[in-house]
Amino acid sequence: MSVKKVYMETFGCQMNVSDSERVATLLEAKGFQMTASEVEADVVLLNTCSVREKAEHKLYTRIGQIRKSSADNLNNSPDPKKPVIGILGCVAQLEGETLFNRDQGINFVLGTRAVGRVSDAIEKVFDGQKNLVDLGEREFGYDWTVADSQRQFPFVAFVPIIEGCNKFCTYCIVPFSRGREKSLMASDIIRHVLKLRREGIREVHLIGQNVNSYRPSSDSGLEKFTGATAFSRLLRAVAATGIERIKFTTSFPRDFHTDIVTAIDEYENLCNWVHLPVQSGSNTILRLMRRGHTIESYLSRIDKIKASPRNISLTTDIIVGFPNETEQDFLETLKIVKYCQFTSAYIFKYSPRPGTPAFEMSDNVSAKEKSERFLELEKAVKNNQQKVFQNYLNKIFKVLVEKISNKNTAQLSGHTTCQTVVNFEGSAERLGKIVNVEILEAKVNTLYGRIC
Ligand code: SAH
Ligand code: SF4
Ligand code: F3S
Repeated sequence: MSVKKVYMETFGCQMNVSDSERVATLLEAKGFQMTASEVEADVVLLNTCSVREKAEHKLYTRIGQIRKSSADNLNNSPDPKKPVIGILGCVAQLEGETLFNRDQGINFVLGTRAVGRVSDAIEKVFDGQKNLVDLGEREFGYDWTVADSQRQFPFVAFVPIIEGCNKFCTYCIVPFSRGREKSLMASDIIRHVLKLRREGIREVHLIGQNVNSYRPSSDSGLEKFTGATAFSRLLRAVAATGIERIKFTTSFPRDFHTDIVTAIDEYENLCNWVHLPVQSGSNTILRLMRRGHTIESYLSRIDKIKASPRNISLTTDIIVGFPNETEQDFLETLKIVKYCQFTSAYIFKYSPRPGTPAFEMSDNVSAKEKSERFLELEKAVKNNQQKVFQNYLNKIFKVLVEKISNKNTAQLSGHTTCQTVVNFEGSAERLGKIVNVEILEAKVNTLYGRIC
């Protein structure tokens, strides 16, 4: 039998992107071939997100489209007219076997911590097993490595340091889909980063739902490093590996100890970017969200970040239209955005998620008000971004050249240390290098410059 081809699509956050990179690595090691064509795929994997209702709807629409588009000569599929369809990730974890009732075309369902068993699941389906569900824990010795060929960006590696979430913000499904917080051992993380460095990776992103809630069960690997929290000690330990650039996301405001800023001040390879989701500018709403921070406590962290000589750029997440959000609450959010001078913000319209505490509250901000607030906030964020970007003009930034620009093949594209996209002219041999770029122009979310 010829090699089975697997097409995979990924929705949601970096944790899912990172899981997909590993799934592709595992599958290729087992003799499958990853393909970018859904039409010729014998197996289609959808790594799903459940954070908002829209994300879930997308899944059902996609399954329908995939079934229509697949070729009718899939020799490798148990049913030659249909590819095997596997649902991975957060919707899989939450819905489990009920997915089979909703959609008859699904062959197997793998939860968020079961993705290491993906090739077994596919083989079992080919052997005739029906309605396979695995929502179990990670297997002992789960391999966190990713083949270079499977990275979203060839010179950037996502390194999970903590998974799951214990915070239970009232609107959020993630603690249910990702389970309780579990920190990886620092010694393993450090070994992993050292290996990546040897292999030519220039930048690592330490990732987790809340990286700064990092709390490993032992101190192994961190003994030599000082710091007020396990996370700030881990940052120093990873910085000491000498890898060129280190970014980390997402930080949870309540657990954001200012020693993180001190660590950034100490080590140049800890990049000058902090993603700190505020969610709302109103204390009333923050209390209803059960975020565990107030605007005052959030701003005290922001002030410390802004006082750093590293010129740290700030980004955030904001929800508009949470239950009971008044115009006054929303104005406070606008005020915070102006004060913090975020370089960018992910803005979401509140979406009630079944099973979360907020689902029991009345979703009483109308769709129209949510849209108006979304647009107004978006405008405010864009204005701020332009103010931040104006300060970048004619200055020189270090940019990691990650790819040839999608829009203009004569241009290269990469990120600054402060996580802004920069496009500039240059040839492909610069890929993977860190270059100095003088910023000449600023557009929405993107800077343009020239190598100097
Ligand atoms: N752990 C991170 C966020 C992870 S989820 C933190 O605490 O900040 C990513 C973002 O999705 C959240 O920051 C929030 O802004 C958004 N989000 C989560 N649940 C949502 C919901 N029910 N409706 C709208 N946006 C939501
Ligand atoms: Fe969701 Fe809150 Fe956990 Fe973030 S901290 S993942 S918003 S529950
Ligand atoms: Fe979505 Fe799951 Fe991430 S719900 S945001 S893919 S943790």
